[in-house]
Amino acid sequence: MAGKFYVTTPIYYVNDTPHIGHAYTTLAADVLARYKRLKGIDVLFLTGTDEHGQKVEKTAAAANITPQELADMVVKRFQELWKRLNISNDDFIRTTEDRHRIAVKRLWDEAVGREDIYLGESEDWYCTPCESFLTGTQIEGGKCPDCKREVEKLKESSYFFRLKGYGERLLTHIGENPDFIRPEAKRNEIVSFLKQGLKDLSVSRTTFSWGIPVPDNPGHVIYVWFDALANYLTGAGYPGKMKFWPADVHIIGKDILRFHAVYWPAFLLSAGLPLPKKIFAHGWWTVEGRKMSKSLGNVVDPFEMIEKYGADQFRYFLLREIPFGLDGDFSISALKGRINGELANDLGNLLSRTVAMVEKYREGVIPQGINSKDRDDREGEIHRSLKVLREGLDEAPSFDECIDGLHFDKALGYVWVIVKLLNAYVEKSAPWVLAKNKDEATLSNVLYTLAEGLRILAVCLYPFIPQSAQNIWCQLGIEEKIDACLFDEEVKIGGRNISGLKVKKGPPLFPRVE
Ligand code: ME8
Repeated sequence: MAGKFYVTTPIYYVNDTPHIGHAYTTLAADVLARYKRLKGIDVLFLTGTDEHGQKVEKTAAAANITPQELADMVVKRFQELWKRLNISNDDFIRTTEDRHRIAVKRLWDEAVGREDIYLGESEDWYCTPCESFLTGTQIEGGKCPDCKREVEKLKESSYFFRLKGYGERLLTHIGENPDFIRPEAKRNEIVSFLKQGLKDLSVSRTTFSWGIPVPDNPGHVIYVWFDALANYLTGAGYPGKMKFWPADVHIIGKDILRFHAVYWPAFLLSAGLPLPKKIFAHGWWTVEGRKMSKSLGNVVDPFEMIEKYGADQFRYFLLREIPFGLDGDFSISALKGRINGELANDLGNLLSRTVAMVEKYREGVIPQGINSKDRDDREGEIHRSLKVLREGLDEAPSFDECIDGLHFDKALGYVWVIVKLLNAYVEKSAPWVLAKNKDEATLSNVLYTLAEGLRILAVCLYPFIPQSAQNIWCQLGIEEKIDACLFDEEVKIGGRNISGLKVKKGPPLFPRVE
């Protein structure tokens, strides 16, 4: 195996059912994991659920069930979604598992051992009628923002983590590791936050009980973010031997960057553990131009999207529509546009035409190509584009660099350049004219070039649309599983000789949607 790779998603709260945002982050991690496996790399891809905390406790109480019952119910929705979206996670972590309690306790003990945790008193605003704690910025003119009644100041005994002492070290680390926080704009936000100076962080609560108790003081529950962040270690085997730590990338939404780029590295430094190599914060989806929210009733249900449009179609759209890292807008018309345009017209048609022509002119058997020295200009252009995809050119990054940088839209852009070239190649070389003129050698070469192009593109597309990529291989008559191939061997001209294979016409790769 050529190295190892550890990718994570946030673990999702079980007080809500999965929506497009959860699907987005998990999908991005899936693309990385699938791609790295094709590169022959040993991958650990972790996702899971965040099951403790006051929010979950309250949601459960409102539904008249225990928090554990709520978690057991909602976790199934997440697991079901990952199955339907074809997510290839290697492990699924739940924070209520024993292995996780052990890891959290150990991480806590390490911090205590380094005298980074002390018992103090937190001062919060409290709204007694609502029984809610509020921060100074939440209260409005001394009143509760929800019920508009007077709030009072409440002192609560709390453990604190000496966050203040880590500011300088974090700034140095960020300075020395430009890839630690991505994209650049997010990195700058964290740098200015750190430069303002840090305050110690309250890491325990006494006002509710649904969580992991503080060792030796069970009246306190460990702060849900201390608990949740530790999942990345649990998944790697902590406190046992950790083959996959440090993580190569934590993929998260921009809403939770501070927890990952400030608190988490501080906890790790305190425990004497290496920091993750990269934290990538992606943007947020709005829906038809508006913020997505339950109250607006516009939450996009990924189950419904998969049901109506197909898993690969939904996967493709999410990663193609906006550069990963920026905000973007989800709309059904944009989704349909990409399905009918790029997927059905460009890629789907290319496959069905190729297979149909091999059937019509060569009795279904892919013919031999000709020697590279006899290539014409059009083939030369296809080969050159493929070379750029593999190796990059001047300022243009290679496909590999695009994926490593999480520029998924660019990686897909490369593939579509070639899809379009191949379609233009069909028009220009007009196999039907070649057949009429009995120019058999040229016709064979055109058919081979098309089939080979599709074979290679399927491998590049496999991380994004795994089922459809497999279908392309099947229609080309390749019997091996596409996930068992190696990217570097496969993505080149002559990487596999497919002449002599019998094509298998199948249903349209991407049916058009109305
Ligand atoms: O924050 N667009 O869990 P969570 C894109 N349990 N992504 C979105 C989104 C949107 N509109 N809305 C949510 C938590 N997300 C914690 C994490 S990790 C140690 C603990 C995605 O269920 C995005 O990835 O609220 C965001 O970070 C995640 O959902 C938050 O999920």
